Amino acid sequence: MHPTQMKTAATFTARIVRGGKWFIAFSPDHMVSLQNPGADVLMKLNIIAPLTESHSGPPSAMSRTILMIGGNSGIGLATARLLQAQGNSLVVAARSAGPLEEMGVPVQPFDAHNPGPLELPPVLDGFVYFPGSITLKPFHRLTAEDFLNDYQINCLGAVAALQAALPALKAAPSASVVLFSSIAVAQGLPFHASIAAAKGAVEGLVLSLAAELAPRIRVNAIAPSLTDTPLAGNLLNSDVKMEAAAKRHPLQQVGDPDDVAQLVSFLLSGASKFFTGQILRPDGGLSSIRTF
Ligand SMILES: NC(=O)c1ccc[n+]([C@@H]2O[C@H](COP(=O)([O-])OP(=O)(O)OC[C@H]3O[C@@H](n4cnc5c(N)ncnc54)[C@H](OP(=O)(O)O)[C@@H]3O)[C@@H](O)[C@H]2O)c1
Repeated sequence: MHPTQMKTAATFTARIVRGGKWFIAFSPDHMVSLQNPGADVLMKLNIIAPLTESHSGPPSAMSRTILMIGGNSGIGLATARLLQAQGNSLVVAARSAGPLEEMGVPVQPFDAHNPGPLELPPVLDGFVYFPGSITLKPFHRLTAEDFLNDYQINCLGAVAALQAALPALKAAPSASVVLFSSIAVAQGLPFHASIAAAKGAVEGLVLSLAAELAPRIRVNAIAPSLTDTPLAGNLLNSDVKMEAAAKRHPLQQVGDPDDVAQLVSFLLSGASKFFTGQILRPDGGLSSIRTF
């Protein structure tokens, strides 16, 4: 029995509510722990009969070990909340912990401008890279520094983190990688030259890595249109702006971070086991249809 098979078979979290929050979780050394968050570990059990890979079936979003880069804000935070509620084990690296601290999610430092080493578990079932930027300027005002800055945060930061995570992703029987692009790649938008170039690089990276890492590791991207997060704050900070932005979309609304989080969860789960090399576009129809 290969250790990764044991890990996959063993990766589950159950919540039992009896006079407080109790849960069972597997630790990296493949032992079961029965814990009460309000007290120390009560007992540990050895696995008696680890399941084989064939028993484990396609992995689902439930109870997987997911590395999230970012996750303290916007779509990342909505995803962290969803994945935690689903019982997944989260490993987060971000510039700051923000609300993740209250959620009890440990956060290690990560800055896309200067990515350092990451402390990772031996096996990872999923990887999501959230850091992003919006630099909106007329092309003649964009500097080489603007282009390099967007490229570093959106593309090279993802490259560094994914290279660090690759051994752990390869150690899983199957794993899923999710990166973030933008509608500005599929739909030309004025003043988006720098971010469109950086996210275009991300989409190219996704296709190449999906081919290189198949069949064990799936690689996909999500390319949202304007979504109501701090990143888009300047574009949506009044009722007038919000209404105008909604009207630009065939579905007459801007993006909701919780909806995008559901898409991340889907791409991490076994429900998307036939998806790789895809760019999913939660964009209210803006990149693909006209209603007039
Ligand atoms: N919201 C939209 O309209 C929209 C549209 C298209 C694509 N997207 C993409 O969706 C993804 C999530 O963005 P969001 O809308 O959820 O925005 P958000 O709430 O502002 O989150 C952006 C995240 O990026 C992190 N970040 C920025 N620079 C970083 C750096 N140098 N190193 C590490 N982390 C850094 C931020 O961390 P700090 O909190 O430490 O700053 C924050 O966690 C991004 O890739 C973005 O490009 C968003």
